[in-house]
Formats: sequence, C-alpha cells, structure tokens
Amino acid sequence: MGNYSRTEGVRTAYPADGRFSYGKRILEELGEQFDLPELFEALRTPGKRLCARVNLLRGSPEEVLEELERTGYEPETPYPYEELVCVRVEGPFEVPLTDAVVVADKRAAESVLMGADLYAPGLLEAKGVKAGEPVTVLAEKTLEPVGFGRALFEGEPPRRGKVVETVVTKFKAPKFRELKSFEKGLIYPQSAPAVAAVRALEPEGLVVDMNAAPGGKAFHAYELLRGKGKVIAFDISKKRISKMMEEMRRLGHSFEVVRADSRYLDLDFPHLVGKADRVIVDPPCTAIGVIPKVWDVKKDEDMINAFEYQKQFVKVAYKLLKKGGLMLYSTCTLTKTENERVVEFAEEMGFEVVEKDTPWGKTPVKVSPSVHGEPGFFIAILKKK
Ligand SMILES: C[S@@+](CC[C@H](N)C(=O)[O-])C[C@H]1O[C@@H](n2cnc3c(N)ncnc32)[C@H](O)[C@@H]1O
Repeated sequence: MGNYSRTEGVRTAYPADGRFSYGKRILEELGEQFDLPELFEALRTPGKRLCARVNLLRGSPEEVLEELERTGYEPETPYPYEELVCVRVEGPFEVPLTDAVVVADKRAAESVLMGADLYAPGLLEAKGVKAGEPVTVLAEKTLEPVGFGRALFEGEPPRRGKVVETVVTKFKAPKFRELKSFEKGLIYPQSAPAVAAVRALEPEGLVVDMNAAPGGKAFHAYELLRGKGKVIAFDISKKRISKMMEEMRRLGHSFEVVRADSRYLDLDFPHLVGKADRVIVDPPCTAIGVIPKVWDVKKDEDMINAFEYQKQFVKVAYKLLKKGGLMLYSTCTLTKTENERVVEFAEEMGFEVVEKDTPWGKTPVKVSPSVHGEPGFFIAILKKK
C-alpha cells in the first residue's frame, strides 16, 4: 500500500496529534476566545444536531416532522424559528478495525464520519479489499477510522459509484437528502446559525446577496419575503452558480442570479447603487467553524488574505445600500481578524452595529462548536447611517 504516513503533509501546531495545523496568529486569536483543547475536540465532531430549513412557500413544518418520524427519526424544534427542524446526531461510536482498509480523502472521510457511504471519487487507496467483505474506512493523513462497512469492489478500485456501504460510522446524522421532503423541495439542509443570520437581517424590499452560491441564505431571504420584495443574487463561481440553479429548481423559487465579481458591483451595475434595503455579505473565509473536521491546515496568510478580500465586499455593500439599509456580515470562521476586525472596519466606513436577537445572544454574535455545540459562525448586522 502507498505511503499514507500518519502526519504526512500536516504540520502539527496544536494539539500535538497531527490533526490541526494553524498559524501562530490564528492560534493566538482562537486561544484568546476559547479553551483550545475543548475547541479542537469540538471541531472533530458534527455538533449536537443537524437541521434543515423548511421551505414555507412549499409546505409546512408539520409535513416534514411527520416524514422524519415515519422514517424513524426523533425530530426536534429547539430554536425560535418555525422553519427550522432538527435531529440529534448520535455518537461517537467505536469503529471496528479490519485488516482490509481504504483511505478516503478529507472531504469523503468527513462525510463517512457522519454516516455516509464512500463513493469512488473520495477513495485514495485500498489494501486487502475483497468484494462483499468487511472493510474499515480511514481518513487520509491522520488514518483515523471513520467508518466500517462492506466493500463493493475488489482489485483495481472503480472510478465511479459507491465503493463502501457503511454499517458503523463514528457518528450517525440524519440523511435529509434521502427524504421525500427533499425531493419535493420542502427542505434545504442548513445549520441553525445560518438560519439565524438571515432571520436577524429581517429581509425586506430589495435584497442583494453578494456571495450567494450555493444559495442557502438567498433562498431563505426569498422565502421570508413571501413575494413582497425582490432578491438579486451574485456569485463569481460558475460551478457554484450551476449548483445553485439546480437547487432553485428543486425549491421552486425564481429570482435573478448573476455571475459577477461582487467587488465591482457598484461599477458594473450602477443602477443598484443606493437602492438596496438589505445586503448579504457572506464571503470566503478560513472556514475554521465548519464541522466535523478530520484534520485542517490554515496559515496566518490565509487569514490575512481573507480579511483583505472580505473588506472589499463590505465597501461595495455600503455603496449598494440605501441610507438606513442593513447589511448581514457572516462567516463560518472563528478568528477575530475575519469577524470583529471586519466589523470595526465597517464602523469606520459609516456603518453602525445593530443588536438583533439570536438563540446565542445579541448580534454581533459568535457561535462556537465548543461553547454552543453548533458549527462555528459569526453574525453581525450593520446599518448604513
Ligand atoms: C461562504 S460562500 C457563500 C455561501 C452562501 N451565502 C450560502 O448561504 O449558501 C462564499 C461565496 O463567495 C463567492 N465569491 C468569492 N469571491 C467572490 C467575488 N469576488 N464575487 C462574488 N462572489 C464571490 C464564492 O464563490 C462562494 O460561493
């Protein structure tokens, strides 16, 4: 079998187990806010529950709750949002170790960890695998066992399709995408903090989403508008926009989605300047709050580059907003540089922080896997003075 050594490619910064390699400044910023051992432990788990947002334009939460119960889940509605239904994640479970192993790439390993089967594109290496026989799925680099199941191939791994059907996985999370409600466009899997972010914005009038794809927040805003306003969504990525259009069809929504570099919307779409009631800035970030992670590597320069990029969207958001209009600034990361520092920058520009309620306190609020058992997320609402 190839050379998948335990720490290959992962520089160990903290903790000393080869899983997380974060730059010194990132670690300092995280250490100022969180208990690091607790945070790194929490980053390896999926959080307390997995949630889906009900598309209230298509149906009711009751329909989804009924289907979840019929399917054997015990749904919960612990948040103050009628559109949010959740199911507790079970685990961790002991994953049996076998002689036959396959190594999955980071993304596939993180899905298997949550209960998914392993598909060919995520398979990196295989050893001693016989079709129909038990096999353990290991995560690349750390070689942590994430799942155990039945191999569906022998010899040369196939290039497409399912390769391991899992039986035991480290955690067991609901499979929303397999529900009839998903097929019918009744639900959109989304975390509670992401839902809280758009709720805090209270969409009205013209909503411009500057970083829209794959569409979670734009779809939510569209649903909350209930036909009384308008959404225009921008994103730079062709691939992500095409995924968004697919989702838009599934949900039965219809609004304008435009491929553009949002850093120049004021120049390329001058008719939008001063016209927006709400702007969503949900820019690329270091994604430290995205869970579960089997390992992660982030350099300080990733954080600094993200900060410089994020500020450019905030500047343009200011131009697009009407006086008194609100911007949602959100990220799925936990550093101060990409969150609090960007809010300070916005305030220097003429934005004013607005306090809105969320289940975790008033905005600006940082939700953390170790403190709240939720994916890491930052929500700020800023008003153009
Ligand atoms: C965190 S994701 C957005 C997620 C989305 N808001 C949602 O809720 O589903 C960030 C997005 O910013 C987009 N992006 C990056 N640079 C951009 C740019 N210069 N202009 C517009 N979009 C950009 C990426 O393609 C990516 O889809």
